[in-house]
Amino acid sequence: MSDIQLIWPNKDLPLRAAGVASFEWVQPMDRRMSIPLEFENLTASLLDVPANVLAIGDGLDVLEALTLQTNVLEDGIRLVYIDPPFNTQVNFRQYNDTMQRPMWLSMMRDRLAALRPLLAEDASVWVHLDDSEVHRARAVMDEVFGDNAFVASVVWQKKTTRDSRAAFSSNHDTILVYAPSGPKRWKTSRNLLVKDETLLRNRDDDPRGPWSDAPFTAPGFRKAQQYDIVTPTGQVLRPPRGRSWYATEQTYLDLLADGRIWFPKGGDGSPRLKLFAHQLRGLVPFTVWGAPDTGTNDDAKRHLMAMFPDVEVFDTPKPESLLERIIHIATNEGELVVDIFGGSGTTAAVAHKMGRRWVIAERNAQTVLDFLLPRLQRVIDGTDSGGITESTSWAGGGNFGIVHVSPRFGKLDSKNGIDLIKRHLAAQAALRRLPLIRARTCFTAA
Ligand SMILES: C[S@@+](CC[C@H](N)C(=O)[O-])C[C@H]1O[C@@H](n2cnc3c(N)ncnc32)[C@H](O)[C@@H]1O
Repeated sequence: MSDIQLIWPNKDLPLRAAGVASFEWVQPMDRRMSIPLEFENLTASLLDVPANVLAIGDGLDVLEALTLQTNVLEDGIRLVYIDPPFNTQVNFRQYNDTMQRPMWLSMMRDRLAALRPLLAEDASVWVHLDDSEVHRARAVMDEVFGDNAFVASVVWQKKTTRDSRAAFSSNHDTILVYAPSGPKRWKTSRNLLVKDETLLRNRDDDPRGPWSDAPFTAPGFRKAQQYDIVTPTGQVLRPPRGRSWYATEQTYLDLLADGRIWFPKGGDGSPRLKLFAHQLRGLVPFTVWGAPDTGTNDDAKRHLMAMFPDVEVFDTPKPESLLERIIHIATNEGELVVDIFGGSGTTAAVAHKMGRRWVIAERNAQTVLDFLLPRLQRVIDGTDSGGITESTSWAGGGNFGIVHVSPRFGKLDSKNGIDLIKRHLAAQAALRRLPLIRARTCFTAA
């Protein structure tokens, strides 16, 4: 636990969801905390491992409900990716992003703290934000996970167009990455990026095929790796200051004899080690992720517009290629990915296409009805041709359960959309002749 902490008004009080869109501070001994959370299973799917779950409700309520009522989180979460409202003080079409700062901070702290005990040993938690709150969120994450759990702060290029009215045209978001086991240990279980084999060339007609190359140097001064190398043009080279050659002289001579050393600039340049496809290690991810590799907000919007041309576009979706990279680095097939700020459902769609298990929570029932639910149904049916469908050769399959968790405080009014979802599911079940269970249970928090 960090010695240095951010303080804010009411920090010592828990904050709980109230109604469909607000929150309330909870005083100690507030008797309403013993009011049961109402949990409904809206589908016939069993909520057992290995279930995928779409939960309609506040993320914290959902975590509590799933933990007490099901065993879907039992195996441990390998990856948490959350893309919460950034607190930009802007009202988006689908949700308001105008919380008071103390509430926003408690909202984040309480959810991260609830996720922590549910994590698998080599889990990581990725929190996607912009400059509105990212520096404060990092202090909160230090507090929840310990500052020694910090792994990286990834800068994602979210757009490629310039806003000429602003002082600076901000074109990045930040994704904070924490691993409670610490970066050194987590590094041993995370996946490297796959090197693009189409970038290999055969510049010397090597019969072994095309190759990539890397500098034949290593950091630091090692005596046995300081020797003269003579280039084909007759230049005598020593390693650059503060560095050594990559290997000892004998190994260098063996590699040279084997045709594994390449001298660029027509034989005048510094030696480089040739690496054939089978010798390529994956790449350690950089912390700056560009739009060509991971897509932009606009790419994500275009994908959604193609799927739902008649619905007003979701304002803040993330592209599937961004989630593909995160899920690839942080998980293996079959492992559990959790997102408690679901939005249009990018995390679940990508996790599904990549063969991971997933649990996603979204509080706004209209967003579930307009985007999340139909999008995931398309993924299952194999009729979503966008995003990473082609690169993963996704053709459809699998299933998911749907649950609804009502908030403990405040009222759910008739406009909350959950009734529409129930009607939609009932109509679908009738169409497909599927059984539909309405199991309603109540329970209190531990
Ligand atoms: C930035 S969007 C997420 C976008 C998503 N990553 C995507 O690609 O579509 C944030 C979402 O969190 C939802 N949300 C806000 N507060 C929530 C809460 N307490 N529990 C669950 N969902 C919440 C909002 O309704 C909104 O859909």
